[in-house]
Amino acid sequence: MKAKEFFTPNTANTANTEIIKNVKSLHLRQEILKWLSAHVPISRVKHILRVEKMATELAGHYFLDEEKARLAGLMHDLAKYFDSQVLLKMAKSEGLEIDSVFEICPHLLHADVSAIVARKEFGIEDKEILAAIAHHTLGHPGMSKLSCVVFLADTLEPGRGKSQELESLRQLSRESLYQAVWLTSEYTIKNLLATSRLIHPRTILTRNWFLEEAKK
Ligand SMILES: [Fe+2]
Ligand SMILES: [Fe+2]
Repeated sequence: MKAKEFFTPNTANTANTEIIKNVKSLHLRQEILKWLSAHVPISRVKHILRVEKMATELAGHYFLDEEKARLAGLMHDLAKYFDSQVLLKMAKSEGLEIDSVFEICPHLLHADVSAIVARKEFGIEDKEILAAIAHHTLGHPGMSKLSCVVFLADTLEPGRGKSQELESLRQLSRESLYQAVWLTSEYTIKNLLATSRLIHPRTILTRNWFLEEAKK
């Protein structure tokens, strides 16, 4: 059979659609990187790129949508350097509940606000991507597997250090997703306790939910 017989109009259309999708995706990535370079210091951009890479790899490992993981990783810290008053204002205008911990520590809102920026600035409407961005710091009970990989990548990306605990959590992140979220939440809680910082109740709820799920 001649090669051209394999290349039917249908396969040509599929290939074209795929190329257009890839070009659009590359263009969006460039736009996001340009925006980041104007709003985020270079050290944070490097962290973001490591989160993008690790989230994409973990998504592939667990047969999740790699493109969604890549986009969520790339946009998870868009609002990281927004002023506290801006974070509070944007969160309130979206109807988010501002509890006492958020009032004292508005920086914790940067995850929710990053999802707002992703929607408004880059037209992201995919609920799973927006949730993964919004949940990257505190997690959420019952959050999706896509949210789990972005949550894990944020804490466990290689730039976070090489301690034995981090290395075992990285290993665990490829063995058991839910157990890794449970123990990564505990790792964060231990660090917050050791440095006398506030713990948002949602971090505890995330830890409890994934602890119970991991036991099943
Ligand atoms: Fe963050
Ligand atoms: Fe981050």
